[in-house]
Amino acid sequence: MDLQFKRHRRLRQNATMRSLVRENFIRLEDFIYPIFVIEGENIKNEISSMPGIYQFSLDRLAEEMDEVQSLGIKSVLLFGIPAQKDECGTGAFHDHGIVQEATRFIKEKYPEILVVADTCLCEYTSHGHCGMVEGDQILNDSSLKVLTDTAVSQAKAGADIIAPSNMMDGFVAAIRQGLDEAGFTHIPIMSYAVKYASSFYGPFREAADGAPQFGDRKTYQMDPANRHEAFREAHSDIEEGADFLIVKPGMPYLDIVRDVRNEFHVPVVIYNVSGEFSMVKAAAANGWIEEQAVVMEMLTGMKRAGADLIITYHAKDAARWLQEN
Ligand code: PBG
Repeated sequence: MDLQFKRHRRLRQNATMRSLVRENFIRLEDFIYPIFVIEGENIKNEISSMPGIYQFSLDRLAEEMDEVQSLGIKSVLLFGIPAQKDECGTGAFHDHGIVQEATRFIKEKYPEILVVADTCLCEYTSHGHCGMVEGDQILNDSSLKVLTDTAVSQAKAGADIIAPSNMMDGFVAAIRQGLDEAGFTHIPIMSYAVKYASSFYGPFREAADGAPQFGDRKTYQMDPANRHEAFREAHSDIEEGADFLIVKPGMPYLDIVRDVRNEFHVPVVIYNVSGEFSMVKAAAANGWIEEQAVVMEMLTGMKRAGADLIITYHAKDAARWLQEN
């Protein structure tokens, strides 16, 4: 027999050999776990489209944080749902706003856990847009001041990282300047630099009560068909001072994660968003897929695509599975 071919199966012949040559790994430190905090008392509301994910009032947040801590998750991303909304989203930058109070609580009781504050207005505005509105226009420059005030109030409350997700032009420059002037030169910005106008955010809008009341977000979030635009967005955020770049959503945009990883030398974060989570949960509940195997494969795929960190609602489950193995 003079067949010529390569024997790739040599390196796959048993579990030990496979683990010897494995290229990508998920670590507990990779996870950033989103938490929804809501104004009010004694609230633990499950999000109907996101099984296992809840809105917590401050007095019940310890239940969630104790679990996060015992599972070894090191970072949480906070979203706030205020009792009242208004045109300007004033709840977002109130010194005693829900995210500010939750941040103080976590930093006091769980000082080792990093608090990442999502900096946006859509949960706080009556119209549900991420900036100031005039008629049917979403205003850019006048939104920057409100976003900067929000970031500064979050930093004052003790947030370790500011993560602006609003997609106004210049938000990184404005927030960096605002943080620096307020004495927070040491607080990094994790920018949602590459954020697409995605239908995968559907369940989140129920969780955070932040659906736009008119129109859509297509004048500020990106067109899912575009790739060059991702480079333009990421380049300007780096020039403006971003310390981390987020690509969002995750699974349908792994090519963009790889592009961003190859082009830039800052940590790249992927956001495995609500709709991706809900699809997995629904299929698993129907017995159509094996949840643990599918989730770990997805998360590993995100690392392989080039993500350093993963924002994911699966973090607690995945942490449990990592501990078991
Ligand atoms: C706020 C924001 C959104 C998400 C994160 N921050 C929603 C949106 O832009 O409409 C989505 C997260 C998810 O779907 O898990 N601007």
